[in-house]
Amino acid sequence: MQALKVAMLGCGVVGTEVAARIQDRAEGLAERIGAPLELSAIVVRDASKARAGIDEKLLTTDAEAAIAGADIVVELMGGIEPARSLITAALRQGSSVVTANKALLAASYGELMSAADAAGVRLEHEAAVAGAIPIIRPVGDSLAGDRIERIMGIVNGTTNYILDQMDSEGWDFDQALTAAQGLGYAEADPTADIGGHDAAAKAAILSSLAFHAPVSIDDVHVEGIEGVTAEMVETARDQGFVIKLLAVCERVASSPAGAGLSARVYPALLDRGHALASVRGAFNAVFIEAEAAGELMFYGQGAGGAPTASAVLGDLVSVARRKVLGGRGQYERPFHEDYPILPISA
Ligand code: NDP
Ligand code: HSE
Repeated sequence: MQALKVAMLGCGVVGTEVAARIQDRAEGLAERIGAPLELSAIVVRDASKARAGIDEKLLTTDAEAAIAGADIVVELMGGIEPARSLITAALRQGSSVVTANKALLAASYGELMSAADAAGVRLEHEAAVAGAIPIIRPVGDSLAGDRIERIMGIVNGTTNYILDQMDSEGWDFDQALTAAQGLGYAEADPTADIGGHDAAAKAAILSSLAFHAPVSIDDVHVEGIEGVTAEMVETARDQGFVIKLLAVCERVASSPAGAGLSARVYPALLDRGHALASVRGAFNAVFIEAEAAGELMFYGQGAGGAPTASAVLGDLVSVARRKVLGGRGQYERPFHEDYPILPISA
């Protein structure tokens, strides 16, 4: 089978991890997909900057040329523009797109999904919410036949890391933020994290999927953690509480405005015995309450290059398989495994 050309937009914290794995795991990915992936170009702002493990011949600043002829485009540059125009151009030319860009999705979800539908291609975005945790497919597909009543969780790794370091190590806010940036958790502009806007973008995406409604970031009430001081964290701890930035998306039966959907992000005081109180570092956790399924819980690394790359690569394999298999069923896919199945032992 002919190689599938993959153009990447961005080679930063996440992009570097994705590109390295496409190269290092080429054989295994080809077996999973049924065709090899060929990394055809990697778009960056500065193509002269050395990047460990990345073939410098692939680096370019010409995004339009990189997209032209690509079977799949992986957008990991972040921000609204030029990401929106480039994704739209890729979809219109018939390329499937994988993105981790929650800021863009929260601003233009319906528009981008419509562009993908119109072109008959996929726009996958598992990495846009909660890093490595599979949450987009469970909410958007697996629970699509149920009625989701409420989603509540910690969906920003940077703020959870900051609050956790302040609580457990007695660090001050700025010290913890600098460490979170160094670990690759924070956005290029960390005010999106600490101001709650990154979590709000994720709340908007989850709400849109869960409630089948066009919820945008402007519909989400947002309070960040900028005002949380070391003294507040200490006082909370002394009284048996911990401060966590929560995102809550729910159906509300009655409010002054009537019944409807509500999404909000705010720092909350949680009893230290609460399940979310034990979510440490940059981990995320998401609880879902659905009519038939009841309660579900998802937990894992919510930020960082490698965990996010896991979700991006999952989407990449998924869209690549569709390109290879077309409309054929999944059971026609041959099984390929790195390890043999062991005989049953007593
Ligand atoms: P970085 O800032 O580390 O990397 C961004 C990359 O995109 C860089 O390689 C940069 O080029 C390139 N880039 C940015 N703007 C342009 C432009 N206008 N033209 C060409 N290239 C451009 O970001 P991250 O890797 O951290 O994040 C990427 C995306 O993934 C974002 O949407 C982010 O929200 C999302 N995400 C990030 C997570 C994380 O933990 N970091 C987790 C989940 C999602 P250059 O290197 O030359 O500057
Ligand atoms: N800046 C984000 C966070 C990255 O800290 O959660 C993952 O989306």
